[in-house]
Amino acid sequence: MRLDVYLTAAELTPGALNDRVVGVIDVLRASTTITTALNLGARAVIPFEGTDEVVAAARNFERSSVLLAGERKMLPVSGFDLGNSPAELTPAIVAGKTLLLSTTNGTHALLQCHGARETVIASYVNCSAVTALFRTAFRSGVSVALVCSGQDRHFALEDAACAGRLVRVASRRFTGVTLNDAAHACSLLDRKYGDALETLFLDSAHGRALADAGFGRDL
Ligand code: MLT
Repeated sequence: MRLDVYLTAAELTPGALNDRVVGVIDVLRASTTITTALNLGARAVIPFEGTDEVVAAARNFERSSVLLAGERKMLPVSGFDLGNSPAELTPAIVAGKTLLLSTTNGTHALLQCHGARETVIASYVNCSAVTALFRTAFRSGVSVALVCSGQDRHFALEDAACAGRLVRVASRRFTGVTLNDAAHACSLLDRKYGDALETLFLDSAHGRALADAGFGRDL
């Protein structure tokens, strides 16, 4: 069995995810926002590449049942109901709603994951659920992959550190799991930062950009 980390979705080659359980990570902020919305009672979150696709898809729903959500350059999209901030979500806003979401990197990465047996959203906020799922996969002899969304198609420190956390916890005491080099490197990042997430986010370029743009609460 393998546990491979892809540091950006651009590294995926055809068939790379076939029959694997796959976690897609965009800690800041799409995978945290999606997980938070579902935890607060959202009915579903549907990812889209473009904001125009969100607008087109909304026409297929009763307007009151959906929320148009997403960001460009971190800011809410003009005319949408929500941006991409987990801190702005409450049960009153999202319970029972379907979020139609387009973000710069996170939903793009999700939409690149073809052929997976199962694709899940992964972030620090749902680490224990994701690692439990991965461990179940290993027990059945199924390989796992983690896809980091990155920032503007490049490496993002916070996604790699979160991947490292998932690698370390999921592979603990499984002798038959082979890691790729990126998984080893990400494990080292998790060893460095551990639970010092504020330090991690302030070391990360996107974390600092979010703080500068007024989204410090999201960190
Ligand atoms: C993305 O998908 O690129 C991010 O979630 C951007 C953001 O911080 O909103």
